[in-house]
Amino acid sequence: MPSTALKMQPETRQAMPILAVEDLHTWFEIRRMGFFKAGDVRALDGVSFELYAGETVSIVGESGCGKSTLAKTILGLHKPTKGKIYFEGKDLSELDKHQLKEYRAKVGYIQQDPYGALPSFMTVERILKEPMIINGITDKDEQKRRIRQVLEEVKLAPIEDFLPKFPHMLSGGQQQRLVIARAMILQPRLLIADEPVSMLDASVRVEILQLLQKLQYDHNLAIIYITHDLSTVRYFSERIFSMYGAKIIEKAATKSLLKNPLHPYTQALFEATSDPDAENLKTFKDVPTGEPPSLLNPPPGCRFHPRCRKMIKGLCDVEIPPEFQVTEDQSTACWLYKDHAQGK
Ligand SMILES: Nc1ncnc2c1ncn2[C@@H]1O[C@H](COP(=O)(O)OP(=O)(O)O)[C@@H](O)[C@H]1O
Ligand SMILES: [Mg+2]
Repeated sequence: MPSTALKMQPETRQAMPILAVEDLHTWFEIRRMGFFKAGDVRALDGVSFELYAGETVSIVGESGCGKSTLAKTILGLHKPTKGKIYFEGKDLSELDKHQLKEYRAKVGYIQQDPYGALPSFMTVERILKEPMIINGITDKDEQKRRIRQVLEEVKLAPIEDFLPKFPHMLSGGQQQRLVIARAMILQPRLLIADEPVSMLDASVRVEILQLLQKLQYDHNLAIIYITHDLSTVRYFSERIFSMYGAKIIEKAATKSLLKNPLHPYTQALFEATSDPDAENLKTFKDVPTGEPPSLLNPPPGCRFHPRCRKMIKGLCDVEIPPEFQVTEDQSTACWLYKDHAQGK
């Protein structure tokens, strides 16, 4: 496990967030017999947050709560049903084709499925060249320089040995280093890493997380680190967003969340993973009892209320809780905190 907690230099924080999402919704239409509309899977249902240059945020939540949908919507792979995404102050929905391409170059992506991530018929060299060709970097020397630099950074060395290799000739850890190299080759400002270590052995996990940490530091890279492995977030991120039922239900500085999680769901999660030992990884399978909500027919009120130990009858089961700013660096969408000021 990385031993030093990630620290962001305060001078790197700028007034304008690098990324802002506002009331983002992504619903998938479900059709019966391929024709009649049967309803919508509300995979993302009103998510808002801001992310600053060089900042690392972890997004945690059970499988199926909408983490990958959030990543893909930000990347433009899903069109939002409602809501806005701003990158460096610009509304993505107003960008033309050329500007969208520039945006995609500024946002690196490590997709969740590591097996589908790398084309089996391309060499390492070709895999790294491809994004440059697509983005108009055609100068051969520049291509070589970038490939060399990025392979050095992800420690796939000696470089000449790796260039002609195909993905199947690499170990799991090396493949993930290559995926990271490809995500970095266009020198992005933001990296979205969707469960980047969940398929790797425990020993390799630490190395890959340390690599991401180093890239973050060296390039003042903003990172959205998506995970259901809570034992890694405490070392990795400055802030944690906890997701449940397609919504963010708690946002907090990592330190504060670990000391005093506010939302009963986050409390249950971190109680069950209080052992920081990487060998004793616990996942969401253990906590809390009950089923995650249906996103086709979500329960009324707070989506967590059917599983909540502190449910207030007549309120939590009726009205959707807004976000309450409980302390300076901690907010939660939970009626238990209704006496605090309402956030955005
Ligand atoms: N393309 C899609 N079409 C229909 N439903 C989808 C699609 N992608 C995801 N979903 C559904 O949206 C919900 C959230 O999925 P996902 O974002 O992958 O969750 P997570 O990454 O947190 O495990 C799930 O119920 C999933 O089945
Ligand atoms: Mg996912």
